Amino acid sequence: MTANAKKRVLSGIQPSGNLTIGNYIGALRQWVAEQDAYDCFFCVVDLHSLTLPQDPAHLRAKTREVAALYIASGIDPDKATIFIQSHVPAHTELAWILSCLTPLGWLYRMTQFKDKAAKQQQESVGAGLLNYPTLMAADILLYQAHAVPVGDDQRQHLEYTRDLAQRFNHLYGETFVLPDAMIPKTGARIMGLDNPLAKMSKSEASEGHAVYLLDTPAVARKKLMRAVTDSGREIIFGESPEKAGVNNLLTIYQAITGQSNADIEAHFAGKGYGDLKKEVGEAVVSLLTPLQARYQELMAEGGYLDKVLAHGAQKANEVANQTLAQVRQCIGLVAPS
Ligand code: TRP
Repeated sequence: MTANAKKRVLSGIQPSGNLTIGNYIGALRQWVAEQDAYDCFFCVVDLHSLTLPQDPAHLRAKTREVAALYIASGIDPDKATIFIQSHVPAHTELAWILSCLTPLGWLYRMTQFKDKAAKQQQESVGAGLLNYPTLMAADILLYQAHAVPVGDDQRQHLEYTRDLAQRFNHLYGETFVLPDAMIPKTGARIMGLDNPLAKMSKSEASEGHAVYLLDTPAVARKKLMRAVTDSGREIIFGESPEKAGVNNLLTIYQAITGQSNADIEAHFAGKGYGDLKKEVGEAVVSLLTPLQARYQELMAEGGYLDKVLAHGAQKANEVANQTLAQVRQCIGLVAPS
């Protein structure tokens, strides 16, 4: 099969914090698994991070770090296209065009906008936050992606992307592929260690919330030892809110070891929460150690990351500009001579 016959996948992560084991288990390792069967584009969505206040130096450093962590996680730059969103100006241009086709009601309805806006002072909610899904739609539609691996919390944004694509196709003729969300089976959803009822987040400030991919083994172990559990003693998988902490620890263990739920429960039968936390800590360290070694290696190789990103941007620009030219033509913009 030639590269062009493969279906296309696109996804991205915001460089607005430290990537966590949740990002690895819920996203990155899925991406790695897809890179042979699909023509993959993985971007670091730095422009999305601007929707909330960022320190410039921090944003710059995190953007490169996230790209390096894509590679350290096993995404192969020879197979997948890795790039920084802002290196492809077509994203912002298409986002503008799409925003002109978007009824405000569609945007006000987005639960992520409502959640994020509620956490801000009313006057400081930026227009970019409202338009966040439009930029995400542009990311996806520019590449004519068939499938978009995302977490369940992004389902609504994907539906919005499809609605927009459909509206555009209806108004101007078949232009965009309608993308499908590719949502990993339950179990891959990692929750906060300090609050197992909320998804583990890279932008949560509290110390014991998440294990970062670049945490030292000592820090990772310590965070797991402090994970919230419950006052019981049963080490079993379960959906009930009281068991959410234990369930989360077992889910992490399951994701890393690949063992079946039954085998894991049998393994921990008769043991205490202290043993559980210790063993999950060791499993996490066994995940982080090789990943961090690869990260250090590629950061030490002067210019390597920049080369990958330059090459990725070139490829991404080629594909994106082709779609954008078609869009500009459809909607009546004069082609530059
Ligand atoms: N909104 C996504 C998230 O928070 C990040 C994102 C931006 C994205 N653009 C994208 C994901 C395009 C998939 C495709 O997870």
